[in-house]
Amino acid sequence: MDLKYGSDEAKKFVTNVGLITSNGKHGENIMAAEWTHVVSYFPWLVMINIGMSSATAENILETNVFGVNIAAEEHNGISSISGSRSGKDINKISMLKELGVEFYGAKEINVTMLKGAALNLECKVIRHENIGSKMMIIGEVLHSEVRKEAVPIIFSSGTYKKVTDFVAQSQKMTQEELEALEKKHKKS
Ligand SMILES: Cc1cc2nc3c(=O)[nH]c(=O)nc-3n(C[C@H](O)[C@H](O)[C@H](O)COP(=O)(O)O)c2cc1C
Repeated sequence: MDLKYGSDEAKKFVTNVGLITSNGKHGENIMAAEWTHVVSYFPWLVMINIGMSSATAENILETNVFGVNIAAEEHNGISSISGSRSGKDINKISMLKELGVEFYGAKEINVTMLKGAALNLECKVIRHENIGSKMMIIGEVLHSEVRKEAVPIIFSSGTYKKVTDFVAQSQKMTQEELEALEKKHKKS
């Protein structure tokens, strides 16, 4: 079956917002990707799932590198701008610069990175494949810069949300009761 965009089902997923930067036939570019995930620690691999005909995908396939800039709370505007226009038509980097957004040159790859992101990752493509309606691209992280105090923004139900508080413990057992229960259900 298909997952309908904006459906009740789709609204149950919660993600980061990755601002994906690239360079290539469409020039320097940035797009928003909620489907940005860490998929391995050793080595550190990040997967993005993006439109096959996006300027970003075409740039990345040409150069085999891309930047992941994890959006912090103040980056919802950048996400909306970069996620609703294509680098095939608009130079989103110069547009954002005119709005006061700052970028810097990546250390290991020839890509522009967003200054002040919660986390900046410079990635080299190790694998790509068309999966369903998207292109899965997995990149190995070559270099990272973290802004420790920055809080990443959450994307869910089509809106941006803040990471606020801890969820209260839902099960009311004491640690001792839980350990006794675990002992009872231990596989021999
Ligand atoms: C918050 C947000 C998250 C998005 N996440 C994705 C995503 O994960 N994958 C995708 O293909 N498009 C996603 N989009 C849409 C792309 O960012 C959009 O199609 C963009 O125009 C592509 O830009 P490009 O053609 O310059 O690469 C998202 C848009 C927004 C606003």
